[in-house]
Amino acid sequence: MSEWEDLRRACEACRGCPLWETRTNPVFGTGSETADLMFVGEAPGEKEDLSGIPFVGAAGRLLDKYLFAVDIPRENVYIANILKCRPPKNRDPLPVEEDACIPFLWRQIDLIDPKVIVCLGRISAHRLIGDDFRISRDHGQWYTRRGRQVTAVFHPAALLRDPRRKGDMLADMKMIKQKLDGIASPGEEEKE
Ligand code: URA
Repeated sequence: MSEWEDLRRACEACRGCPLWETRTNPVFGTGSETADLMFVGEAPGEKEDLSGIPFVGAAGRLLDKYLFAVDIPRENVYIANILKCRPPKNRDPLPVEEDACIPFLWRQIDLIDPKVIVCLGRISAHRLIGDDFRISRDHGQWYTRRGRQVTAVFHPAALLRDPRRKGDMLADMKMIKQKLDGIASPGEEEKE
């Protein structure tokens, strides 16, 4: 069995925290297993729990719009969450749930080996960047974590609640696209 298949099965069989009892499906992650760019959200919502696929609800549709706007095909990226199972009523993940679930994400990151990781929202940023991260102050900043370039942007669900941040989100997404292009062809920008 491939390592991916192993990991997916372990995730489906996981009883590491009580969320398995209330979920419909675990939401493992989706996209290119060789992606240069990986997005990490918070936890599945209702639509994701029902479908088993991350970011397919209203927040996911908004994320798709930003990907389209900066010319990044969704199938070229990998999308996962800090938690694989939906917390009841979409409450914030508990630290104990994150601790139980995070080894799946670390393994996914190791297997994909992305050049860039983008945290979607504060929960993901706290976990992958640091406890003192503040999304309104620090979004769009670059950090090196475990040898990788990591940044965070507003969670699309937060943008649905507060559309005033949509300009910041577009600017951050453009900056992420530039970073990726720079990694794909270093020095190209200077030549133009
Ligand atoms: N919000 C998230 O953080 N993740 C999803 O998969 C869907 C909504």
